[in-house]
Amino acid sequence: MNIVVIHQSRSGNTKKAAELIGGAVASSENKVSVRSTENLDFKELANADLIFVGTWVDGLILFGHRPGDIGKLNLIPPLWGKNVVAFMTHAANPGKAASKFASFLEAKGAKVISSRSINRRKLESEIRPFAEEVLAELN
Ligand SMILES: Cc1cc2nc3c(=O)[nH]c(=O)nc-3n(C[C@H](O)[C@H](O)[C@H](O)COP(=O)(O)O)c2cc1C
Repeated sequence: MNIVVIHQSRSGNTKKAAELIGGAVASSENKVSVRSTENLDFKELANADLIFVGTWVDGLILFGHRPGDIGKLNLIPPLWGKNVVAFMTHAANPGKAASKFASFLEAKGAKVISSRSINRRKLESEIRPFAEEVLAELN
């Protein structure tokens, strides 16, 4: 499969999550590229079989949770019919941000097959099982 992992990150956690996803899904059968929202290759996206899109959880900790930097996420072109995974990183409480992010991507035409926010302190332990779960769903 051709897999693209896109990240929108301010302080580096979501970028790190994207790199860990890239490492977890790379194999002799999977060609993977990891890119920031500002460095997208539209042709590569058009050829992708699976796209992970990640951002951070913005909110007021107890309420108002939403995908961070939504304006920059709009740099992502329409994703009609593409299998897409929405991932996020958060500090304490993601609320319903991951399902809001999934709806945002669905509005771009994506077929969102999974959405999850991962605590920024648990990236090393939780990213690999998450990525493997996604690949297993597609097989
Ligand atoms: C303005 C702002 C609001 C935030 N709101 C929340 C929040 O409501 N809940 C939460 O768990 N983390 C919140 N965070 C923490 C970030 O989601 C978390 O640190 C994330 O991993 C940052 O990702 P990044 O390093 O890729 O920018 C907030 C961070 C910022 C800067």
